[in-house]
Amino acid sequence: MKILVAYYSETGNTRKVAEAISEQASINHDAILKKIQNVSPDELKDYDLLFLGSTCHDADLARPFKQFLDTLPKRPRFKLAGFFTHATYTPNHTTRRKELFAQWAGKCAPTFEQLCQEKEIKFLGYFHCMGAPSKPIEAFIHQEIIPSDKEWKEYLPEVKTHPNSQDLEDAKHFALKVISKY
Ligand SMILES: Cc1cc2nc3c(=O)[nH]c(=O)nc-3n(C[C@H](O)[C@H](O)[C@H](O)COP(=O)(O)O)c2cc1C
Repeated sequence: MKILVAYYSETGNTRKVAEAISEQASINHDAILKKIQNVSPDELKDYDLLFLGSTCHDADLARPFKQFLDTLPKRPRFKLAGFFTHATYTPNHTTRRKELFAQWAGKCAPTFEQLCQEKEIKFLGYFHCMGAPSKPIEAFIHQEIIPSDKEWKEYLPEVKTHPNSQDLEDAKHFALKVISKY
């Protein structure tokens, strides 16, 4: 099967996840890795499966990525899986982390779901993990999202390690699951 892994990344976190997915997909399939900026609408008809990923901005997929999603055709032959990286926690621990994720990254998954519903694209699920923020965003997060110094001391060293080798293994596992579901 022919697979496109395309991503929008500003500081490299989402690119690392895209590379892991592409590496996994390449084992048994013809997989191509590209920045979304280098994908032409014409070539999309060549693919059976698209993995599309973005950095998270303002709790949603980044604007240039959403603009790219708008160009996808209606009722295409390809199926789609999504991925994104975000600086807020993943929501799998405490209530506090769940609330922060919902508030600061909660629109990403619904954006993929709505797009696929509107464009009648078969959606095969999404993957996400934390990604270290750039310095200015780090300052913003401390000011607006995690003002408590106690929580900040736990958060900052943790977020700085992502995406880590476990995240990239999880991304590969996700790719495998999507491909087997196809
Ligand atoms: C302008 C801007 C806005 C951001 N907004 C959010 C946000 O709302 N929620 C969040 O969890 N992370 C936010 N981030 C952090 C990034 O989503 C995160 O660090 C991501 O892993 C960066 O991916 P990249 O290296 O592929 O660009 C923002 C980053 C930037 C630069």
